[in-house]
Amino acid sequence: MPTLHWIGKDKVINHHMDVPFRVLEHSYGFDNGTQSETETKSGNKIIHGDNLEALKSLLPEYEGKIKCIYIDPPYNTGNENWVYNDNVNYPKIKKWLGQVVGKEAEDLTRHDKWLCMMYPRLKLLHKLLSDDGAIFISIDDNEQANLKLICDEIFGRNNFVSEIIVENDSRARPYNSVAITHEYLMFYKKSDKFIANILYNPEKNFSNKDCLGGFDLYELRNRNSDFNIDNRPNLYYPFWVNPDNKDENDLYELSLTEKDGWIKFYPQESKGIKTVWRWGKEKALKNLNINIFGKKSNIGFWQVVKKYREDSYSLNSVWTSSEFKSDRGTLTLKSFFENKRIFSFPKSYELIQQCLILSSDKNSIILDSFSGSGTSAHAVLNLNKRDGGNRKFILIEMEDYSNTITAERVKRVINGYSSIEGTGGSFDFYELGEQLFKDDGNLNEIVGVEKIRNYIFYTETKKPLSESKHKDNKYFLNKYNDTAYYFNYEADKVTTLNHDFLSAIKTKAEQYVIYADKCLLTKEFMTKKNIIFKKIPRDITRF
Ligand SMILES: C[S@@+](CC[C@H](N)C(=O)[O-])C[C@H]1O[C@@H](n2cnc3c(N)ncnc32)[C@H](O)[C@@H]1O
Repeated sequence: MPTLHWIGKDKVINHHMDVPFRVLEHSYGFDNGTQSETETKSGNKIIHGDNLEALKSLLPEYEGKIKCIYIDPPYNTGNENWVYNDNVNYPKIKKWLGQVVGKEAEDLTRHDKWLCMMYPRLKLLHKLLSDDGAIFISIDDNEQANLKLICDEIFGRNNFVSEIIVENDSRARPYNSVAITHEYLMFYKKSDKFIANILYNPEKNFSNKDCLGGFDLYELRNRNSDFNIDNRPNLYYPFWVNPDNKDENDLYELSLTEKDGWIKFYPQESKGIKTVWRWGKEKALKNLNINIFGKKSNIGFWQVVKKYREDSYSLNSVWTSSEFKSDRGTLTLKSFFENKRIFSFPKSYELIQQCLILSSDKNSIILDSFSGSGTSAHAVLNLNKRDGGNRKFILIEMEDYSNTITAERVKRVINGYSSIEGTGGSFDFYELGEQLFKDDGNLNEIVGVEKIRNYIFYTETKKPLSESKHKDNKYFLNKYNDTAYYFNYEADKVTTLNHDFLSAIKTKAEQYVIYADKCLLTKEFMTKKNIIFKKIPRDITRF
């Protein structure tokens, strides 16, 4: 596969692993229209800080759990005067590049710099995405080609779904003789487990077109009349229909495997030709793992269709709706801020909502790590209100307006503003706190023992540490997969794993993993009792 090279790539390719792990410090909670010091623990979060560090701090709780990521990174237009730091010469990014890429950074073009900035962030976003998740990235011609190549590298060429064209400005001025009226929405899935939610609209007639191409339904009959059972025998195989499960639109449940009491059928015969299915069985199994339905046509044949969600509408790869235009985003944002224009070109929440409809379900977690004016939270809250969902949002914004604009907008969306009805909801606001490890590699006691315990448990199990109901000594973390974990740590004194410590253990487990500064048990004894000693800080995993 072709890959992209640029100056500084070698310095950033694994940089996400060197980013220090910082803890999140709770600033305030916003619940039921009021702000207080109490953490709402609603799962909705706004984090103020550089997204590289903030994304890393999300890993313990969220690795592999984010269903939908939407980002709108700086387009790298070269325009220095924006409120958004739409440029990688921005002092904070320049400083970071200087530290990571070193002296070489002085010679980088703005495209090299942009790639250096994006690459490690995309790596972390990839880790956070769930196997059935998807990422959407807004971008324009300045970096679209570069972005496509690094996304192919990070997400995998096979996981590219589409590069959607969004008509965002129908009145654009000519630029290089051509008026640019569109931008892109780069759409990748994490793996084949991702299934887009696409509409089956019973109002419309069945067609054989799929929705990402702008249509309503898959019909699985092969319409190429040259294909038949003789020259394409691999496209001829049975489906089974469940005669007892029919929905209100006369669609029956189907399966590609035989089931008791279900009726077997093959592609229908048409005008004397034994037609075949559109895909071979392997591909059909891959594409039709859920939601396959069948309908009896007027003339009694079974047609296989794929059913889509009913709260969406069909889409194609060119999005031209006036709802998706940048003007729409500007107007919406102004309506929350006394009609003042506080940002140029925020996205329309309808655009992000469309991404959510395509890729999330009602309990999904949605992440936006370049959140600007908080449009993604608006989209999440609005969609929840519309369909009774319980989606959660996590926003990251590095600028100080993360509170005065990003969070403020979210508060106004929740409470309602002017004539706009509130969606309800709550969130917590966090600052990026101290590093978990000091520069000398020791634990940084300032972050507090609870946060260190969380980190240790996560590195061991990849699970967040929930409050344990076990009655055990204060160093007990939790039991997982029949292993009991203990973190024998005191900020100001040396701790020891010895027989006294063991006698205070109350949890029965097949194996024990115990952290301490020192160990006085013999190797033989530990092997016999299935005890693994881990030295603090030497044996603590870094990620
Ligand atoms: C183009 S704007 C996003 C606009 C947003 N979609 C909206 O509708 O308002 C990009 C945002 O990313 C933020 N940003 C840029 N680099 C960042 C970084 N390293 N960490 C966190 N935020 C960053 C900028 O401050 C800016 O607010």
